[in-house]
Amino acid sequence: MSNITLHTLAARKAAGEKFAVLTAYDATFAHQVSSAGIEMILVGDSLGMVLQGRDSTLPVSLEEMVYHTEAVARGNQGAMIMADLPFMSYATPEQAMQSGADLMRAGAHILKLEGGRWLCEATSMLAERGVPVCAHMGLTPQTINKLGGYRVQGRTRESALEMIEDARRLEEAGASMLLLECVPTVLAQEITANAGIPVIGIGAGPHTDAQVLVMHDILGITPGRTPRFVKNFLAEAGSIQGAFALYAEQVKNGSFPASEHGFE
Ligand code: KIV
Ligand code: NA
Repeated sequence: MSNITLHTLAARKAAGEKFAVLTAYDATFAHQVSSAGIEMILVGDSLGMVLQGRDSTLPVSLEEMVYHTEAVARGNQGAMIMADLPFMSYATPEQAMQSGADLMRAGAHILKLEGGRWLCEATSMLAERGVPVCAHMGLTPQTINKLGGYRVQGRTRESALEMIEDARRLEEAGASMLLLECVPTVLAQEITANAGIPVIGIGAGPHTDAQVLVMHDILGITPGRTPRFVKNFLAEAGSIQGAFALYAEQVKNGSFPASEHGFE
């Protein structure tokens, strides 16, 4: 696979072709994921939960994100690497520039920040300095204490309209991608239709331009209860490499996610 860039992914959206995103946190899995036809690797701060055993993403440090991004970059075979700015590492635009620089030097190609319109200033500053931004909206796990639990967002008309407006403003500010987590299928569909940039979904139904999942979830090895939007691809494929390829295939042919993985 030749190197995937923002240009590649924008062209996929324009052509109505879906792309696949999966988390990876180390070189070996980055090699496997990027060799399986998955366009984008997310070095997610979900590593706080699946690698470190914490019960939220809040304790993950920028240094830890840099360490894992460097490892992923070494194993990567041409996928686009997105890295999460962790909790409170982008509380101000200035802090976002500094933290973002560390992750870009570590090998990220695009940064993901959680939030709505308050991210516009950091987004435009990063974009103007050549750093692409993905704005993560809906269920934003770094905000879990404020949200009061892991639940579907944008269910009231007021909150849905606010999210639609956040998406519009973030794109206008220069965001290169959006990510919607745990939002009703129809809301994700509307935001995706309005957006000129690719929209990635998780628990956001089948109409987004791309899907993302946590690797441990698609391998069925995450301890505890699995969220509704997760599918165990290892059970069906029989091997780790097969699970990655099957995930990519089902995202691209539209068979994943099915309606049972989404929210009304
Ligand atoms: O950290 C992560 O893995 C994420 C995805 C769940 C979107 O942000
Ligand atoms: Na994350």
